[in-house]
Amino acid sequence: MSVEWVPEIDSTNTELMRRARAGDAAPVLLVTDRQTAGRGRLGRPWQSASDAGPGRLDESLTFSLGLPLAPVDWSGLSLAVGASVADSLDPTGTQLRLKWPNDLWTVQDRKLGGILIETAMPHVAEAQRYVVIGIGINIGPRPAEGLSTAPAWLQEFRPDATAPHALADIAAPLVRNVLRFAARGFAPFAQDFAARDALRGRVVSLSDGTIGACEGVGPGGELLVRTAAGLQSITSSEVSVRPA
Ligand code: BTN
Repeated sequence: MSVEWVPEIDSTNTELMRRARAGDAAPVLLVTDRQTAGRGRLGRPWQSASDAGPGRLDESLTFSLGLPLAPVDWSGLSLAVGASVADSLDPTGTQLRLKWPNDLWTVQDRKLGGILIETAMPHVAEAQRYVVIGIGINIGPRPAEGLSTAPAWLQEFRPDATAPHALADIAAPLVRNVLRFAARGFAPFAQDFAARDALRGRVVSLSDGTIGACEGVGPGGELLVRTAAGLQSITSSEVSVRPA
């Protein structure tokens, strides 16, 4: 696996997807100080604090891990990735929660970071795809303009945090855990995710307007929501917490 750093790029995910489509399926970790067209889930832009000005390593960590993978079952990968990152940044489990399916939240429900997973077509072997795992984490306090909700930052509970240190903590366990996921699926991560689950036990609303009580996640990482119509198993939806 190679590690590449570039001072500026449109998006680390876009770059690795471009390479994969051009036939380059080499494992790589691509990190940048600044994205000019960072992407979030559901086609939203992703703006890190340092995107607004010259790259500053104390403001955000922005990287993508790309590697060929052939898991038995893809479901739950973003949850396993979230659990790995949260464990690296908050080993005691007191600061960070995971908001299904791909957000890192503080215990006060503020977003510290997000995960964007994309896959390109198989290149090397049957059932194999090139998976690009993009991770953006707010490190320092300068709030990114245009964000609708107040973000959280790592230095709130790790005052000396910098992007390189955070990356050093995150990277090796992340690669190990992604390979573990490929071999064994979501099961080995289920307990870890449950311990950090920000939605379990809370009233949530889904993007189709359904409201229900979240009962955690199922064996494949699907969100379980008890609604008037019974227990629903959600595989894709926007979810927000209803104010108490
Ligand atoms: C989200 O919260 O919607 C996901 C945000 C993912 C952002 C990261 S930053 C590195 C990688 N490159 C991108 O363009 N997006 C991901």
